[in-house]
Amino acid sequence: MGDAALTSQRDPTGEAPGHAPAATFYFPKDFRWGTATSSHQVEGNNTNNDWWAWEQEPGRILNGDKSGLACNWWENAEADFDRTADMGTNAHRLSIEWSRVEPQPGLFDDDALDRYRQMLQALHDRGIEPMVTLHHFTNPLWLAEKGGWEEPSVVTDFRRYVRAVVERLGDLVPLWVTINEPMVYAVQAYLGMGSWPPGKNSLGLVGQVARNMLQAHAAAYHLIHELRPDSQVGIVRHWRILEPSRSSSPLDRWLAGRLHCFFNRYFTDALVTGRLRWPLGGGRMSELAGTFDFLGLNYYTRELVAFDLGHAGGLFARRHFAPGAEMSDDDYGEVYPPGIYQALKLAAAYRRPIYITENGLPDADDDQRPRFILSHLRQVWAALQGNLPIMGYYHWSLIDNFEWDRGWQQRFGLIELDPATQERRLRPSGELYGRICRSGCIDRDMVSQYAPELLDQMFPA
Ligand code: FCB
Repeated sequence: MGDAALTSQRDPTGEAPGHAPAATFYFPKDFRWGTATSSHQVEGNNTNNDWWAWEQEPGRILNGDKSGLACNWWENAEADFDRTADMGTNAHRLSIEWSRVEPQPGLFDDDALDRYRQMLQALHDRGIEPMVTLHHFTNPLWLAEKGGWEEPSVVTDFRRYVRAVVERLGDLVPLWVTINEPMVYAVQAYLGMGSWPPGKNSLGLVGQVARNMLQAHAAAYHLIHELRPDSQVGIVRHWRILEPSRSSSPLDRWLAGRLHCFFNRYFTDALVTGRLRWPLGGGRMSELAGTFDFLGLNYYTRELVAFDLGHAGGLFARRHFAPGAEMSDDDYGEVYPPGIYQALKLAAAYRRPIYITENGLPDADDDQRPRFILSHLRQVWAALQGNLPIMGYYHWSLIDNFEWDRGWQQRFGLIELDPATQERRLRPSGELYGRICRSGCIDRDMVSQYAPELLDQMFPA
């Protein structure tokens, strides 16, 4: 994407009062400006799932951290809903914790479902549209104990849980996400060298788990439409830009292409064609075809791929970040704004509305996040100019939360949280995001205040 295509437009309404004509990046009037969270990362005391058990095992989580009270949302999500409403957002993505709703197989907890009703109502009361994810990495202990997503019976179990949730909460939820980042889950849990539960290592199991997730997704899609024909049902995929390390190397190019297909494409392709490709399996599952109304796109970073005989365990792929690139905290990833444009183009090929369901970075001292938000949104704006059907942007995350195997090390929040005292403080990036949400645009003042180093690029003289 060349910079010329990314520069701003003159304000179509003319001069802003008392100012020179304002050059501004305008977003659509009905754009969703949101934030995103997931149940286990924010609720606290989710004692009945596989992640809680994993956190109790020594050495599993960085620094021995635990989710503990997390952001205390089970007791008081409403206080943070007030904060996001003050910021001016009009959308929030959150997830339902299966282990709370169905603590024993077939036994549903009315109080837990009531609490979720309260939370969803609280969002509506504040003018915030909820998007609800049904599976975001965690599993009830009883499910994990009988083999979790390895067993085909998970499809029936998931469907039963989805029915209970949609019957009780469906009137409050216009947008459903069945499963968050299925390929990330399958790879981290089944090829992740013990980083995520159940800590297994088998490419065969990755395929098996992905297949069961495909079927569970399709079953949930059909069921939700049967129960709530008016709702929209989608899947959230993590889009990682994977490029050859040496563009002159045919092997690097080939391998980057293979990994791209494996990680970014085959799962979603199967939901269009019903056809499974290795390593997800072979053959057809015709019931998968056409089972998403929208695509959720999570974008964080890009990686380069080098063919390396020394990396047999990683399918001979050595993945690394671009040398000299700007990195976020903890070497989580390269800050690479053009990647969100590339990911949006890839997603647009599926010809469905796109929601950017996650985008963010770990940045405890907030010295990168304001620039990150501006430079990524500039790319989103450019994609909108090319008529890509982008419905909204949900920043990950509203507040610092429990970041899986990295514990409390990585701080993704627009709001800073001290998990010990539960004190909160709005970061400057949160102020900036609030200004963008309230005005529906990015203007020169915002850029000069929060990331003046971008002025020349975004507003060339
Ligand atoms: C995504 C996950 C989310 C969070 C962010 C940083 O892959 O969906 O829960 O961990 O990464």
